[in-house]
Amino acid sequence: MSPTPSVLPINPGGTLPPDQVLSRDAVIARYWEALSVQSIALLAPRRVGKTSIGRKMVAEPPPTFIARLRDLEGMQRASEFVKALYGDVEELLPGSTKFERRARGLMEKLTGSVEVTGFKLQIAEQDWRDLLDAVLHDLDHHAASQDRLIVLFWDEFTWFLKDMDGTGCGREAMVLLDRLRAARQKYSKVRMVLTGSIGLDEVIRGLRRQGYGNDPINDVRKLTVPLFTAAEALDAARGLLTGNVLPAGAELEGLAAHVARIAEGHPYLIQHVAQVLKTERQATTDAADRALEALLDDSSDPLDLSHYVERIGFYFGEGERVAVLALLDAIATAPSGLSMDELAAAAIEIDRERLLYALQALRRDLYLDRVDGRHRFRLEFLRRYWLLERALVEAG
Ligand SMILES: Nc1ncnc2c1ncn2[C@@H]1O[C@H](COP(=O)(O)OP(=O)(O)OP(=O)(O)O)[C@@H](O)[C@H]1O
Ligand SMILES: [Mg+2]
Repeated sequence: MSPTPSVLPINPGGTLPPDQVLSRDAVIARYWEALSVQSIALLAPRRVGKTSIGRKMVAEPPPTFIARLRDLEGMQRASEFVKALYGDVEELLPGSTKFERRARGLMEKLTGSVEVTGFKLQIAEQDWRDLLDAVLHDLDHHAASQDRLIVLFWDEFTWFLKDMDGTGCGREAMVLLDRLRAARQKYSKVRMVLTGSIGLDEVIRGLRRQGYGNDPINDVRKLTVPLFTAAEALDAARGLLTGNVLPAGAELEGLAAHVARIAEGHPYLIQHVAQVLKTERQATTDAADRALEALLDDSSDPLDLSHYVERIGFYFGEGERVAVLALLDAIATAPSGLSMDELAAAAIEIDRERLLYALQALRRDLYLDRVDGRHRFRLEFLRRYWLLERALVEAG
């Protein structure tokens, strides 16, 4: 591991080297503990830091784990996924004759030839199932022989499933989910980490509408990647401001605490505000407030918040999309939130059962909080963005 640089680079949106992934040690320790027992899903809206956590975990696993990460964004076929998996573990099992023999045999069966040098894998679209099982079987063996667990991180797994579904491969997604579930039952040394910025349950619900009857992830522990706690946010803000916005040694506690507070523990926001302060050579709390205001108002959406508006359509379907947006609009205009009675009176075209379901889903997913029976936006910056984006005016 490279030594921590004395001044941390500010990096809003780039790939963070493991030593620049701040304030995630406690969360990562919890995830390793969870993985010692079962596979997990790490779910959270965009930009909360899922990939950074995954990369850091894979770069620095405890000695009892072997870990690999694969970004599935852009993939649309199960065969592509299995080929990528094969590529990842081929390097993990150098000289594993059994594995290689089997894979070569499969390839010969599937393509009629074996390219001995370079061993490039080509599999027919339907025959990925055999290879998937062969790979996971041999990985399980390999991990058992070392008395370790093998952890396969599949980043944006939920988008991958949704893309498969969206391109007419819903049935293939169902088979893949079933195969992965069967492998988790069969291979006790294999763990999977399924990450996603859209919910796994929602994607599976989409497959159910096409007749899928299984519950392929009921053995996977679903965890929501949290925002930073206040103390973690303060540490991260301090780390990024030191040397970038104020010279090392200068008093920056007040500014760091302010940045951590207005970013509400959101790592990506802390990075962005720190970057503006650095660029503008400003080191005051007022400048931090102005920076956040400008970021929220910027039509290029540097904070990627349009995602929160767009995913409503995916979560609730065309029929309910408009009603749920109206529900969020009503809540956004009321900074102290709305009670059930007030929501019922808000003339939103949604019956009580669907309203309750929508509120629960929105609470689960970082949009809303319920405090003393009143629903309100969980994140004040998201509420402010919502008001701007949806051309709303705060009530009273
Ligand atoms: N632990 C952290 N320390 C410092 N910065 C962070 C941390 N986590 C996230 N960030 C900031 O947020 C950005 C996005 O992080 P990351 O790509 O990990 O999020 P994500 O949840 O995977 O997002 P997406 O859903 O869009 O893939 C990073 O480039 C970085 O600027
Ligand atoms: Mg990511």
